[in-house]
Amino acid sequence: MSAPILPGATLGILGGGQLGRMFCFAARNMGYRLTVLDPDPESPAGRIADDHIEAAYDDTQALDTLASTCDVITTEFENVPADSMRYLARSKPVFPSADILEIAQNRNREKSFASRAGLMPAPNHAVYSEADLERGVEVTGLPAVLKTATLGYDGKGQAVVDTLEQAQLAFRDLGAVECVLEKKIELAQEVSVIVARNQQGETAVYPVGENEHRNGILHMTIVPARVDDALVRKARQQALQLADELEYVGVLAVEFFIDTDGELLFNEMAPRPHNSGHYTKDACVSSQFEQQARMICGLAPGDVRLLSPVVMVNLLGDLWRPDWRLLMDQPDLKLHLYGKKEARPGRKMGHFNVLDSDVDVALATARRVFDALSSG
Ligand SMILES: Nc1ncnc2c1ncn2[C@@H]1O[C@H](COP(=O)(O)OP(=O)(O)O)[C@@H](O)[C@H]1O
Ligand SMILES: [Mg+2]
Repeated sequence: MSAPILPGATLGILGGGQLGRMFCFAARNMGYRLTVLDPDPESPAGRIADDHIEAAYDDTQALDTLASTCDVITTEFENVPADSMRYLARSKPVFPSADILEIAQNRNREKSFASRAGLMPAPNHAVYSEADLERGVEVTGLPAVLKTATLGYDGKGQAVVDTLEQAQLAFRDLGAVECVLEKKIELAQEVSVIVARNQQGETAVYPVGENEHRNGILHMTIVPARVDDALVRKARQQALQLADELEYVGVLAVEFFIDTDGELLFNEMAPRPHNSGHYTKDACVSSQFEQQARMICGLAPGDVRLLSPVVMVNLLGDLWRPDWRLLMDQPDLKLHLYGKKEARPGRKMGHFNVLDSDVDVALATARRVFDALSSG
């Protein structure tokens, strides 16, 4: 176990998106220096880091520079080449490890791992070729969801299928790559749990968030989740179990489905701070980004106490440019924009958190403001 990495040290990060940007802000507040490696000269995190190495994620010269100038390295981008993390790990501490990234990057590996850790994914079957689909629909029943095993995000790379023939067509449409066929769950609710764990095995679990998705993209997170206490306890405990089993270091997000029978099913994990944890920025003692810095630096977990009920709403590129006054006129609303120059439909441009001592009031305000923005 190495000595803690203290403020004044330099933290490196592979990936320069909004998660990296919010990590940079939080770590910088704590007195760390930040270096971002990202090929995009305009990347949201690169523009606010102390140093931006503008290079491809597999550029060994750039990786050498990162390793030689940073005390510890993390990533904000799940699909960063695991081999780059492996390469960096030869000279500097790297969290999450390349092995964990490789599990999280593939839905089949991820579900197997979660099962072994005692969590319960929806009935599913790995699909490597069209021939696997027949057995697949026997396992999952219909309707089912066919998802590419790798590179899917925000509902991309998935198709709902009602028949075997549709599954075959969808498999070809998705490029005949490795997939997973999954039972289509009748969702009562979706929740996620953000866990933090350090090298000493100390952990902290954030309050469970209730997630509302639109078109496969997170729309809103409500905290505290309006979910049965026993299920909340179970979700927290399972997320911890997964983090322990992975010997995880950093912030880990675990997404769950709750079906109409009240069954808790593992959906997926993200080996990094997560969109559904953005509420922690304004509503918890320690944000998930501060926590990520603490964990990778070998410090004790920060307090995850919820200071106020909160509702987080994503702002996507679909409604650009919104009437900012609608947001700024609301005193209990905190706006966070990611500094992206170009808005595209579905692109995450920012989010806002609404705080109120009554979660239903926060929710009503969040919905009213969002509806006003969308109709503007
Ligand atoms: N098997 C399923 N049954 C019902 N809804 C699903 C299923 N799989 C995905 N979804 C819906 O699509 C959303 C995105 O799917 P997810 O597997 O989490 O992929 P992504 O990596 O794109 O977030 C989920 O949060 C859920 O709302
Ligand atoms: Mg998801």
